[in-house]
Amino acid sequence: MDVFQIEGGHTLNGSVSVGGAKNAALPIFAATLLTGETCRIEAVPDLTDIRFMAKILRYLGARVDQTGPHSWEIEAKEVHHRAPYELVRQMRASVCLLGPLVGRLRRAEVSLPGGCVIGPRPIDLHLKGLSRLGCTIDVRNGYVEVDGSGLRGDYLYLGGRHGPTVTGTANMVMAAVLAPGVTRIESAACEPEVVDLCQMLVKMGAKIHGIGSHYLKIEGVKELKGCQHSVLPDRIEAGTLLIAGAMTHGEVTVENVVPGHMRALLDTLESCGVECEIFPDQRQITVKKNSGEYKPVEIITLPHPGFPTDLQAQMLALMSLTPGLSFITERIYPNRFMHVPELLRMGAHISMEGASAVVKGVDQLYGAPIMASDLRASAALVIAGLAAQGTTWIQRIYHLDRGYESLESKLNALGAKINRVDESLLPSELLEDA
Ligand code: EPZ
Repeated sequence: MDVFQIEGGHTLNGSVSVGGAKNAALPIFAATLLTGETCRIEAVPDLTDIRFMAKILRYLGARVDQTGPHSWEIEAKEVHHRAPYELVRQMRASVCLLGPLVGRLRRAEVSLPGGCVIGPRPIDLHLKGLSRLGCTIDVRNGYVEVDGSGLRGDYLYLGGRHGPTVTGTANMVMAAVLAPGVTRIESAACEPEVVDLCQMLVKMGAKIHGIGSHYLKIEGVKELKGCQHSVLPDRIEAGTLLIAGAMTHGEVTVENVVPGHMRALLDTLESCGVECEIFPDQRQITVKKNSGEYKPVEIITLPHPGFPTDLQAQMLALMSLTPGLSFITERIYPNRFMHVPELLRMGAHISMEGASAVVKGVDQLYGAPIMASDLRASAALVIAGLAAQGTTWIQRIYHLDRGYESLESKLNALGAKINRVDESLLPSELLEDA
């Protein structure tokens, strides 16, 4: 397995371009099951999760061809309804196969997704929504079996204890677009990735109103046609790169972004004294060089348009070097703090109070051997390694490859010193950890 060897202390400067959003591309790939015609998807990030979703679609019977580094052609002419455990367990986002399989085939059999380090990942809202749409659901032997022969439009409320559900909304929309009648979804997620999915479905002939709001009205149609769609830029990758620039006090311009999708982060960065120049017409944002000190912040993660949970770990890394006390509370995934023990190993000063991290900024972080645990925690550890004194070894970086395309190449092009090496090159005292 690969590990990262990061030589800290190098300031990032220059421009970097952001790829397509993983969390849009995955449901968009699933949505191609809704038609027997060909869908051409562009600006797809080159990630293990994407290749994995392609593998599942092929297993279901679709023709799936990668026609370019970021281009795919998918034709689900004849597909079946069963996604097995050995595939689904490897990627939770497989759950968003439920909606399109029910919409297209009126049947679905998808293994229950496993949990993951950021917390239990229930799908009760997905199942409640499908029941409201006339489906009969049976959960047995670790599988969700859906009989959608009675699928029809209806009213459903998708709010849970932690707010709307992103992939739950995607699933309900993908089931409803081919359901006879009208579906009204209240407390729908309005993340930009859900908007992107809806926009693609409209291109395919779906009738969806209220896109971008928490209230969606969907008029079912008989069938959908193929389409061409380009995935929207990844606001989380963009935010990660901006925070990396700020962490090293460099000047970094992130291109191919939609500033309007990043207001909560930009507002938070402004509050902590990270000066950003925003060029909406050129779809770029520059974090300005700042040799001064940043200010501590209070962050609470919330559903969009609130502060995104997927940037919580990255901001926590930045705050670990910011003088004063910062308070970071997780309202989406209360356990999403696997990065904290690793940052403590680097000399950070963080204490946990329930779902809140109290971060007391320190003058210096120190390179250390640390372990990646989940996608965004891994990004936070890379950010910390960029600013740490000395060398940081990050093991299990396969977590990072699930959601970031060549992050180390992008950061090295800005001046970072990150080597991706085989774990056999780890210093001997670390090998037993690998
Ligand atoms: C999506 O996950 C993203 N993944 C996550 O990104 C992101 O963190 C999350 O939305 C929140 O924004 C993809 O889009 C593939 P949810 P999803 O259903 O849809 C609870 C990353 O790092 N909930 O919106 O699975 C749930 O436990 C990943 O890129 C229920 O209680 O998240 C959580 O507390 C990580 N019952 C909250 O709602 C349900 O039926 C939000 O979950 C569904 C969810």
